[in-house]
Amino acid sequence: MRNSDNDMVYLQQWQPLWRLIFLLSISLLSMSSAFAMEPIEPIPLHVEYNEQKAGLGKQLFFDPILSKDQTVTCATCHDPDTGGADYRAVSEGIFNRPGKMNAPTVFNSYFNFRQFWDGRADNLAEQVSGPLHNPIEMGLTLEEVERRLNLHPDYPRLFKSIYGKLPIRIDDMADAIAEFEKALYTPNAKFDRYLRGELELDKAAQDGYRLFKKIGCAACHNGINVGGNSYQYLGAVIPVEWREGGGDLHQRTGDPFDKNRYKVPTLRNIALTGPYLHDGSAASLDMVLEKMAFHNLGFKLSDDQVTLLMAFLNSLTGDRPAILDSP
Ligand code: HEC
Ligand code: HEC
Repeated sequence: MRNSDNDMVYLQQWQPLWRLIFLLSISLLSMSSAFAMEPIEPIPLHVEYNEQKAGLGKQLFFDPILSKDQTVTCATCHDPDTGGADYRAVSEGIFNRPGKMNAPTVFNSYFNFRQFWDGRADNLAEQVSGPLHNPIEMGLTLEEVERRLNLHPDYPRLFKSIYGKLPIRIDDMADAIAEFEKALYTPNAKFDRYLRGELELDKAAQDGYRLFKKIGCAACHNGINVGGNSYQYLGAVIPVEWREGGGDLHQRTGDPFDKNRYKVPTLRNIALTGPYLHDGSAASLDMVLEKMAFHNLGFKLSDDQVTLLMAFLNSLTGDRPAILDSP
């Protein structure tokens, strides 16, 4: 597509002016970001966490005791081997009940400003009770979770030694799981090492990064998580059809401006976390790129541009979190 055609698409399809102002202010903000004036910051090499609590949280994360029919664990939908996300388009919970949303990765979720696609949880500990009593996901009342944990042969002793009291309460369980999730960070992506001046990126990835900034992807995908720090529209420039029940911010706030608005997902480890988008509707990364460029920036990417962006995105895969392989 020639530039003038791009311009026409822009002119015909512009959303109200405030969206433009919003985007511009975000890009200004991202340009002033701390790390060597780059919009993306490396994941820290070390994140402080309480090892005892995280160890307990790890055990809980992989324990089917937390689901009604004892078949589902947190890891069923947040599989460490698929980047902490679900390989299925939408997650399936207990009794194989299909959900509506694609499970985002739990890796680096500690760096997100809020949790869930619609940001309804303030932090990781608050997030935990969501899947537990979701009738599709794990399907237990919080009282039943407490009952099971308190009757367990090992948990009472473990919780007592860490939290100093019994009976086990949901808040302590959520605290332990959140501490484990804090440890699920993935440092040393090639791109981070490049930002720290430790290696040269190959040319395609460097050009891809330049493009990512130039065409405006970085306006929404920036910071430590290359996302996860604001709400933005799917369809910021060329709207996509809105459907009831899509798990957007509107579903939570009822505000018409929040239709098709989501927490921007992280692009960390994006090569591992497909399928993509809130409903898992994009099976491959190149499908998402097309959709993002068209609906969120207003133009069609060339094949070469897709190749460069893919090279950059592939450089965002970091180390597997060390805690997963520690005893
Ligand atoms: C049946 C599948 C399933 C199970 C089991 C499950 N999750 Fe999730 N998880 C999801 C889905 C789907 C979402 C997104 C839902 C939404 O945003 O409305 C999600 C969202 C999250 C998020 C938010 C991430 C982000 O970037 O917003 C975290 C953290 C998380 N889950 C942790 C857990 C923990 C801890 C457990 C176990 C207690 C768990 N999940 C169990 C499917 C599951
Ligand atoms: C206006 C803000 C905005 C811009 C600009 C933008 N994105 Fe996004 N991006 C989002 C939002 C919001 C989502 C989630 C949409 C959804 O799930 O339906 C998303 C989702 C994605 C995803 C899927 C992530 C996942 O885990 O499902 C990828 C990959 C992505 N964007 C890459 C890009 C690239 C590359 C560009 C530039 C061509 C770009 N984005 C431009 C806001 C933006």
